[in-house]
Amino acid sequence: MGSPLFHLITIIIIIIFFTMSVTSSKLNNYEHHQEEPTQFFTRCLTQSGVHNFSAHSNANNESSLYYHLLNFSIQNLRFSGNSSLPKPTVIVFPETKEQLAKTVVCARGSSLEIRVRCGGHSYEGSSSVAVDGGSFVVIDMMRLDHVSVDVDAGRAWVEAGATLGQTYSAIAEASPVLGFSAGSCPTVGTGGHISGGGFGLLSRKYGLAADNVVDAVLVTTDGELWNREAMGEDVFWAIRGGGGGVWGIVYAWNVQLSSVPETVTSFIVSRPGTMKQVSDLVDKWQNVAPKLNDDFYLSSFVGAGLPERKNKPAGLSATFKGFYLGPKNKALFVINESFPELKIVENDCKETSWIESVLFFSGLGTGSSVSDLKNRYLQDKLYYKAKSDYIRNPIPRLGLTTALEILEKQPKGYIILDPYGGAMQTISSDSIPFPHRKGNLFTIQYLVEWTETDTNKSNEYLAWIRGFHSSMTAYVSRDPRSAYVNYMDLDLGSMNWIKTRVDDDAVEKGREWGEKYFGKNYDRLVKAKTEIDRDNVFRHQQSIPPMSMENTNESSSRMSEMESVGNGICQSNSNMKELK
Ligand SMILES: Cc1cc2nc3c(=O)[nH]c(=O)nc-3n(C[C@H](O)[C@H](O)[C@H](O)COP(=O)(O)OP(=O)(O)OC[C@H]3O[C@@H](n4cnc5c(N)ncnc54)[C@H](O)[C@@H]3O)c2cc1C
Ligand SMILES: *[C@@H]1O[C@H](CO)[C@@H](O)[C@H](O)[C@H]1NC(C)=O
Ligand SMILES: *[C@@H]1O[C@H](CO)[C@@H](O)[C@H](O)[C@H]1NC(C)=O
Ligand SMILES: *[C@@H]1O[C@H](CO)[C@@H](O)[C@H](O)[C@H]1NC(C)=O
Ligand SMILES: *[C@@H]1O[C@H](CO)[C@@H](O)[C@H](O)[C@H]1NC(C)=O
Ligand SMILES: *[C@@H]1O[C@H](CO)[C@@H](O)[C@H](O)[C@H]1NC(C)=O
Ligand SMILES: *[C@@H]1O[C@H](CO)[C@@H](O)[C@H](O)[C@H]1NC(C)=O
Ligand SMILES: *[C@@H]1O[C@H](CO)[C@@H](O)[C@H](O)[C@H]1NC(C)=O
Repeated sequence: MGSPLFHLITIIIIIIFFTMSVTSSKLNNYEHHQEEPTQFFTRCLTQSGVHNFSAHSNANNESSLYYHLLNFSIQNLRFSGNSSLPKPTVIVFPETKEQLAKTVVCARGSSLEIRVRCGGHSYEGSSSVAVDGGSFVVIDMMRLDHVSVDVDAGRAWVEAGATLGQTYSAIAEASPVLGFSAGSCPTVGTGGHISGGGFGLLSRKYGLAADNVVDAVLVTTDGELWNREAMGEDVFWAIRGGGGGVWGIVYAWNVQLSSVPETVTSFIVSRPGTMKQVSDLVDKWQNVAPKLNDDFYLSSFVGAGLPERKNKPAGLSATFKGFYLGPKNKALFVINESFPELKIVENDCKETSWIESVLFFSGLGTGSSVSDLKNRYLQDKLYYKAKSDYIRNPIPRLGLTTALEILEKQPKGYIILDPYGGAMQTISSDSIPFPHRKGNLFTIQYLVEWTETDTNKSNEYLAWIRGFHSSMTAYVSRDPRSAYVNYMDLDLGSMNWIKTRVDDDAVEKGREWGEKYFGKNYDRLVKAKTEIDRDNVFRHQQSIPPMSMENTNESSSRMSEMESVGNGICQSNSNMKELK
C-alpha cells in the first residue's frame, strides 16, 4: 500500500488536520482575546489604585451586587428590564479625578468601549448600554458628586457626578439668594444635563445651565485633565450643549450662579375640561407664556391621564405650572392681567424660598423635605419614550384639536409645553451649540410611560408616540424639523459605529440628526470633535463624528472658508462662488 496515491491522500489529510488545528488554535486565541481585555482592564485598575468596580463575570444572578449597581442609575426600564441588551463587562466608580483619568487610560489600553454615566437619565440608554457589538465598560460618576460654592464670586465648582438635586441643595445651603438655572428633576445628573444644554424654570431669565458654565475640567481620551484654557475655545464651546458622551468625560463644571429673591411664588393648577375648553386654554397659553416678563415661567402639561386630575374621572386636562421670581401679590397681578382665563387665586400660590420651590416642582411626593433633593435614587421607575418639537408659530386650532384627539386615546401619553422667550431669545444661536433661540415660542415634549414588560405592549406605545409626532408635522418647525438633544430620540437617525467606520461618510450621515439638534452649529461641532477625539473613542449611536483622515484637509479648508463668511465678508465670498 505504498502507492504514491496513498502518500498524496496522507499528505492531504495531514494538511487538512493541520489547517483545522491552526484554525481552532486561532479560534482559541480569539476567544482568549475576548476574555483578555476585561482581565487586562481590571488588573490595570487595581494597579492604578482604582478599587471600586464590579465585573459582570462575578454576577451569578440578577440579584447580585453587579446588577444592583448597574440598575441603580438606569432610570428608564427599557434599558434595564431587557435581558437581550448587552451588559457592560465592568462598571467602575472612580473616587477622585486621578482615578477617573486612570480608568480612561486603562479602558483604552484594553480596547474596551467606554460609556460614561452620571444621573442615568438618557432617554435612549446611551450611558448604560452599547449596542454596536463591542465589549464595553460603564464609568459611573456617582462618587464624584462634590459641589463647592463660592458665595462671594457667585460661582460653584460642581463635580460632574453630582445630580441637580445635590447641586441645588449645596447652593441653597451656602446662600438663600443664589440659585442655578437647570432642569427640575432632582435625580437628573449634571454630567449629562449640562452637556446637552439644560432647560428649567430659570431659563427665561438666565438661559440654560450650559449658558452659565464659565470653565470646566475635561478628561481627554489620553487621560489628561484639561481646563478651558488647555482644551481651547472650540472644545470648550462644544462641551456646553453639544451632547454628552462625545468629547471626553467632564470631571467638573465651573458655573455662574444666579440671584434669586428670598421669596418666590409657585403654583400648580389642574384644569380638566371638554376638548373645546382645554383647547381654548392651551391656545391662550401659547400666545401668552412665551411673552411673559422673564421673571415668570408658565408651562403647560396636557393629557388624558395627568396625575394632577387626582380623583376626578379620567379625561382631558391641562396642568399649568407657574413660577415667579417675586412675591405672590405681584405674581397674581401679572397672571391675572395676562391670563385671566386661568383663574389663579391667592390660595393657589405658595410663597417660599427658592430651594423650597425646587422641592415643590421636583415631583417628590408630599411629605418630602428639602434634604430629599439629594437622594439620587429614583423611586417608581417606568418604561418610557419621548420625542420633541420646536414651535415657531402658534399652533392653529386644527393642530391643537389633532393633538387633543390623539392624547384622548392614550391616557399613558402626555405633552409638556415649555415656554421660551426672555433670555432664551436674546442669547445668540451660536453662543453655544444649542441653537433653538430667537423665534422659538416653545417646545413640545411628547412622552408615553408604561409598566407592562412585554414587547408587544411596548411596540404599541412606541407606535402611538411616533404616530403622534408624525401627525404634528404641519404645525411645527421645519427645514430642519428641530429637536432637543437632551430629549434624545434615536428615531431621528443613528449610527452603528462598528459598521459605519469614521472614514465612510459619517459626517454626512450624522448631519441627519445633527442638524435637527444643532442646526448650523453642526459643522463646528464636527470640527471640535476632530480636534479633541479624532479616533472617536467617545461615541454612541448619535454622537458627533470626527472628520475622517482623508477628508480632514479638504474639510478644514471648507471650515476656514465658513469662518471667514462668519467674519462678515459674506458678500465677497458669495460673489466668488458665483464666479466659479
Ligand atoms: C425625569 C426627567 C426629567 C427631565 N427634566 C429635564 C428638564 O427639566 N430640562 C432638561 O433640559 N432636560 C430634562 N431631562 C433630560 C435630561 O436633561 C437628559 O436626559 C440628560 O442627558 C440626563 O443627564 P444624566 O446625567 O442624568 O444622564 P446620563 O444618562 O448619565 O447621561 C446622558 C448622556 O450624557 C453622557 N454623560 C453623562 N455624564 C457625563 C460626563 N460627566 N461627561 C460627559 N458625558 C457625560 C452620557 O454618556 C450620556 O450619553 C429630563 C429627563 C428625565 C428622565
Ligand atoms: C463603590 O461605589 C458604590 C456606588 O457608589 C457604593 O455603593 C459602594 O459602597 C462602593 N464600595 C466601596 C467598597 O466603597
Ligand atoms: C444570587 O447570588 C448571590 C451571590 O452572588 C447569592 O447570595 C444569592 O443566594 C443568589 N440568589 C439566587 C436567587 O440564586
Ligand atoms: C435589575 O433589573 C432587572 C430588570 O428590571 C431585574 O430583573 C433585576 O432583578 C434587577 N436586579 C437588581 C439587583 O436590582
Ligand atoms: C383680576 O383682574 C380683573 C380685571 O382684569 C379684576 O377685576 C380683578 O379684581 C383682578 N383680580 C385679582 C386677584 O387681581
Ligand atoms: C429588548 O431588546 C431587544 C434588542 O434591542 C429589542 O428588540 C426588544 O424590543 C426589547 N424589548 C423590549 C420589551 O423593549
Ligand atoms: C405578539 O405579537 C405577535 C405578532 O403580532 C403575536 O404573534 C404574539 O402572539 C404576540 N404575543 C403576545 C404575548 O401577545
Ligand atoms: C493633509 O493631509 C496629509 C496626510 O494626511 C498631511 O500630511 C498634510 O500635512 C495635511 N495638510 C494640511 C494642510 O493639513
